[in-house]
Amino acid sequence: MSPPVFPSDDIDRIMDVMAVAFDPAFGEAWTRRQVSDALMVGNCRYGLLDARGAPPAEGVSAAGFFMARGVLDEAELLLLAVKPEARRRGIGNNLLELFQEDSHLHGATRLLLEMRDGNTAENLYRQFGFTPIGRRPQYYRGANGARTDALTFEKLLACV
Ligand SMILES: CC(C)(COP(=O)(O)OP(=O)(O)OC[C@H]1O[C@@H](n2cnc3c(N)ncnc32)[C@H](O)[C@@H]1OP(=O)(O)O)[C@@H](O)C(=O)NCCC(=O)NCCS
Repeated sequence: MSPPVFPSDDIDRIMDVMAVAFDPAFGEAWTRRQVSDALMVGNCRYGLLDARGAPPAEGVSAAGFFMARGVLDEAELLLLAVKPEARRRGIGNNLLELFQEDSHLHGATRLLLEMRDGNTAENLYRQFGFTPIGRRPQYYRGANGARTDALTFEKLLACV
């Protein structure tokens, strides 16, 4: 079977958000190559929303995106990002809704994610129903070499 083809416009939209959403101090932004390679794998999916919280029409840029990977009955959130100027308007939450719906459609009963300890995204994830299940000490290394723990969260869709 040939690999899935993604519109390069969508990769442009993802990279447009990627370029401004992540603090360079933590080295969390992916390269275009990492994104396109991931999306070539059949179990990797993504969603985009524009500044109005709708799927971007042709020629309209994205305000945020998610990327996720499905394995059997689990779906893992790989990346979630919203442009700084579009934050605190519910777009991050709407992207999590999209991720959840998409994962459910693909048969997931458990959502997973991992984040750097101290990321304010934790508030969003907890409000959305994720609960902490693990900590990997000193897992991430920032651009300055400083180590940070990774926190793992889950949400069971069977309980939704
Ligand atoms: C995390 C992120 C995606 C949130 O996007 P957003 O569109 O601002 O999120 P929402 O507007 O849907 O926020 C919903 C709720 O989450 C909580 N929240 C979101 N960002 C928060 C922050 N920086 N500090 C505290 N609480 C926050 C708030 O309770 C917020 O509701 P409120 O605005 O009514 O108080 C965005 O800040 C981002 O792109 N961060 C950089 C990339 C990143 O770290 N991604 C996560 C790890 S991959």
